[in-house]
Amino acid sequence: MYNLLGYLAALGCAQSALAAPLASSSNSSYIDWRTFKGNGVNLGGWLVQESTIDSYFWDKYSGGASDEWGLCEHLGAQCGPVLEHRYATWITKADIDKLASAGITVLRIPTTYAAWIDLPSSQLYSGNQTAYLREIADYAINTYNMHIVIDTHSLPGGVNGLTIGEATGHWYWFYNETNFNYSLQVIDQVINFIQTSGSPQSYTLEPISEPADNNTNMVVFGTPLALTDHGAAWVLKYIRAVIQKVASVNPNIPVMFQGSFKYPQYWEGDFPASTNLVFDTHHYYYEHMESSSANLPEYILADAREKSGTGKFPVFVGEWAIQSTYNNTLALRKRNVLAGLDIWQNYSQGSAYWTAKFTGNTSVDGQGEQKDYWCYETFIDEGYFS
Ligand SMILES: *[C@@H]1O[C@H](CO)[C@@H](O)[C@H](O)[C@H]1NC(C)=O
Ligand SMILES: *[C@@H]1O[C@H](CO)[C@@H](O)[C@H](O)[C@H]1NC(C)=O
Ligand SMILES: *[C@@H]1O[C@H](CO)[C@@H](O)[C@H](O)[C@H]1NC(C)=O
Ligand SMILES: *[C@@H]1O[C@H](CO)[C@@H](O)[C@H](O)[C@H]1NC(C)=O
Ligand SMILES: *[C@@H]1O[C@H](CO)[C@@H](O)[C@H](O)[C@H]1NC(C)=O
Ligand SMILES: *[C@@H]1O[C@H](CO)[C@@H](O)[C@H](O)[C@H]1NC(C)=O
Ligand SMILES: *[C@@H]1O[C@H](CO)[C@@H](O)[C@H](O)[C@H]1NC(C)=O
Ligand SMILES: *[C@@H]1O[C@H](CO)[C@@H](O)[C@H](O)[C@H]1NC(C)=O
Repeated sequence: MYNLLGYLAALGCAQSALAAPLASSSNSSYIDWRTFKGNGVNLGGWLVQESTIDSYFWDKYSGGASDEWGLCEHLGAQCGPVLEHRYATWITKADIDKLASAGITVLRIPTTYAAWIDLPSSQLYSGNQTAYLREIADYAINTYNMHIVIDTHSLPGGVNGLTIGEATGHWYWFYNETNFNYSLQVIDQVINFIQTSGSPQSYTLEPISEPADNNTNMVVFGTPLALTDHGAAWVLKYIRAVIQKVASVNPNIPVMFQGSFKYPQYWEGDFPASTNLVFDTHHYYYEHMESSSANLPEYILADAREKSGTGKFPVFVGEWAIQSTYNNTLALRKRNVLAGLDIWQNYSQGSAYWTAKFTGNTSVDGQGEQKDYWCYETFIDEGYFS
């Protein structure tokens, strides 16, 4: 989630033992995003912490910080133990069982860069994230044949000035060669993780999320203006380097590209049609618009029609949620969740809800609290999918 809610103030070791390069069509056990349809959720608040997702956790450990960077600074030596406990408990195999029971086939898993590399200058914690990731992903793949999207949600220096991009106010990823190089080291590690998983065909690699260099006042965040053309050129340089890296190790692994809030149409011309690429678009409805629970499906449909590209590349909706700006209504949640799922399936390759678990108790306009609108497991408990 892009997390404006309440925070305006605020290596080289990835050579494959497995794959001689193959055209992506030559190995049918890999996913072809042009034909695959995913029914997904995000595992938010697990390997990346956000203030809004779990109020109890945040209140207990953050010391009032806006972001994970500050939370770790506040916890000092306790940051490691607190986060290791979080990794062991927030998402467990029981969650995967529950998600599978509701027909979930895709898990999009946000990670910080610190899961992959340990930068001495960073407050973000480098610990056993990948061990937990391995355990949960193996289980989801082997038990339910789920597909895993590994999302490196933050990158060194900060990709959007928000809590989730590294830290609040950090935009130093842009135009910074040192951070660019670190980011590619992160990607080497992710590729290595996938290649040594025993099931590389079950993964998609997503190397960035919601890059934005024009949101100092936050007004344009969530819109195409959040990323300037100059910023987009830097993002493009990075994505091309990632695609080349992945292709040189295993071209069957799809790269998922979250091109900020610009439409896929903006980027499509930058890649040859043969690129093993899928776009990820994010759609939220709780600000910048006159949305309500009553009219939400119209907004979703308009987004689906406008922002699904030209057909040159497949598009997957990697984040969305049903909170509206005004007049949220508990009774319309089921209709809106099902409408959204249906629309994203029809106009794109499916979607991943934000997020699997959410206990945040901030109130919303209309009825209820955020947790009533953002928690997929609640929707499962309420029987929306049975
Ligand atoms: C397809 O990929 C799987 C997983 O990497 C591998 O086990 C299998 O040998 C590959 N098949 C071909 C025909 O390359
Ligand atoms: C939200 O939850 C936190 C942590 O449990 C609690 O301290 C706070 O009072 C709650 N806020 C509301 C508005 O209920
Ligand atoms: C990471 O996991 C290993 C193996 O389970 C364990 O020995 C180690 O203490 C863990 N590290 C931390 C920082 O918890
Ligand atoms: C790159 O960013 C880092 C912080 O992430 C900063 O310390 C360094 O000075 C920056 N380099 C340049 C050339 O701006
Ligand atoms: C980044 O990596 C490139 C290629 O490996 C290297 O030529 C360049 O010096 C590096 N730049 C920095 C600032 O580390
Ligand atoms: C940055 O956002 C502002 C709105 O706050 C917009 O007017 C401007 O055109 C954007 N700048 C660029 C370079 O896209
Ligand atoms: C929200 O409800 C109020 C009161 O019924 C109504 O005046 C307003 O137009 C509604 N807003 C939207 C965006 O539907
Ligand atoms: C989605 O497709 C199904 C099956 O074709 C159809 O019944 C449904 O009306 C479509 N929904 C939307 C919103 O396009």
